[in-house]
Amino acid sequence: MQHVPDLFSLAGQVAIVTGAGKGIGRACALALAQAGADVALAARTEADLEEVAQAIRALGRRAIAVPCDVNDEQALERLVQRTVAELGKVTVLVNNAGGAGPNDPRRMSADDFGATLAWNVVPAYLLIQKVAGPMREAGGGAVINISSMAARLAQKHFSAYGAAKAGLNQMTRNLAQDYAPHVRINAIEPGAIRTEALARYLTPALEAAMVRATPMGALGEPEDIAAAVVYLASPAARWVTGKILAVDGGAETPAAA
Ligand SMILES: NC(=O)c1ccc[n+]([C@@H]2O[C@H](COP(=O)([O-])OP(=O)(O)OC[C@H]3O[C@@H](n4cnc5c(N)ncnc54)[C@H](OP(=O)(O)O)[C@@H]3O)[C@@H](O)[C@H]2O)c1
Repeated sequence: MQHVPDLFSLAGQVAIVTGAGKGIGRACALALAQAGADVALAARTEADLEEVAQAIRALGRRAIAVPCDVNDEQALERLVQRTVAELGKVTVLVNNAGGAGPNDPRRMSADDFGATLAWNVVPAYLLIQKVAGPMREAGGGAVINISSMAARLAQKHFSAYGAAKAGLNQMTRNLAQDYAPHVRINAIEPGAIRTEALARYLTPALEAAMVRATPMGALGEPEDIAAAVVYLASPAARWVTGKILAVDGGAETPAAA
């Protein structure tokens, strides 16, 4: 029998992580490098990417900072081309850039609603299209889409974000069928994770309500999501595709402030 802990190694793999400058994406990039991967880092703020790249190089892995707005298809094309040209291949993709704040359906325009849907789904769709060929040439690959528990909870003020992430989940399930067996595609549904994005909305009262709604009794940290990403990227998950993994401290109900 194979030594199972070896299956979690990403030695020899090359990953692309979007939204890699901060928060969950930054933690995923560092964790993938700790597990042995070289990493291409994408976000709009180059200084953030350079900081993460330096941290990865200090681990002895290669890293490239690729400033990129994931809403720009040509920038996504350049991201994949630079990764293959400079790191040799691409075998892991983490579609992490995304998100949205709460919305009031009495005020949100249809254009803004549509933009929220598009930005949480379309860049991931395009990047999967663009990496599928290189992943197949490299002998296979794994995609992890960062969704949200908002995709399955029914709660006030999340009609746009919840619908967008639910769309991302169903796209994950269907694209996994399209791209198997060469590319595995899974998603993670984080619960409330302590990042700058969450800090914009977090009041002491809301944090206390979130903790009450979380059986594990605490908010999550970016590393909680990064650990799940390493698993889904690794050969340990070689028979797992089209699945949505909740990493949410056991939350099943929205926070009631
Ligand atoms: N934090 C949570 O509680 C939580 C819970 C569930 C799901 N999530 C999901 O986790 C993901 C990351 O969230 P986070 O909390 O880690 O956010 P964050 O701390 O705000 O970090 C977001 C990262 O994405 C980059 N980014 C933003 N817009 C971009 C664009 N147009 N193109 C490329 N990169 C872009 C940002 O850098 P630049 O601004 O420099 O581009 C930054 O590096 C999102 O998909 C979010 O929906 C988060």
